[in-house]
Amino acid sequence: MIDLHCHILAGIDDGPAVLSQSIAMARIAAADGISQIAATPHIKNKLHPPAVISKAVARLNTALAERRIPVEIVPGGEAYALLDPLLLKGYTINNSRYILIEFPHTHLPRTAGDLLFKLVSQGFKPIIVHPERNPSIIRRPDLLLKLLNSNILVQITAGSLSGNFGRQEMECACYLLEQGVVSFIGTDAHSAEFRPPILSQGVNIAAGIIGRRKALALVTSNPAAVLGGKT
Ligand SMILES: [Fe+2]
Repeated sequence: MIDLHCHILAGIDDGPAVLSQSIAMARIAAADGISQIAATPHIKNKLHPPAVISKAVARLNTALAERRIPVEIVPGGEAYALLDPLLLKGYTINNSRYILIEFPHTHLPRTAGDLLFKLVSQGFKPIIVHPERNPSIIRRPDLLLKLLNSNILVQITAGSLSGNFGRQEMECACYLLEQGVVSFIGTDAHSAEFRPPILSQGVNIAAGIIGRRKALALVTSNPAAVLGGKT
């Protein structure tokens, strides 16, 4: 499986503080059957230079190879939707056109459609992350559905399907799956203990809603196409 959303780099955002914690997260991911992880630090208040992210990715890949942990890390970022798209070129997933886009946790801005249009105009393919945890979308999922097209995709969090974020979040995640608008399930993991990088539980729940073949595509072929820069 492939996880496109993971805060696994040490000392960059609110993920792990030190390398040993990143390694612990990778061990958990490997045990869950995850073989590739996009490292997606928050790009919000601080614009970490892309070179810092690439360096941290290389350092972690070396550490994993030395320990024979079969997980490959690729660079990415989770960009705050209100940032100027011109600042975001260095934060796409594995240097593709895809970029994780995070809306404010409190609401969906009225300008969401304009923000996404600007991103697409600049050549990005935005992936809206965890919409099922946004209060505006929980109340009115149609607000999200109206924003989507072939260039604007959706990733939900595995833990939302297990109910880790609450009942409404779980119901919204299930609804979005039923609507067929979800392209990816990610872990949005932040540590080995709190929000660990585990996809399988979410995939099993998704399989009960949309069938195993479609559920597996959300963590295999769909993210593989992103890493390959395809579609
Ligand atoms: Fe995240």
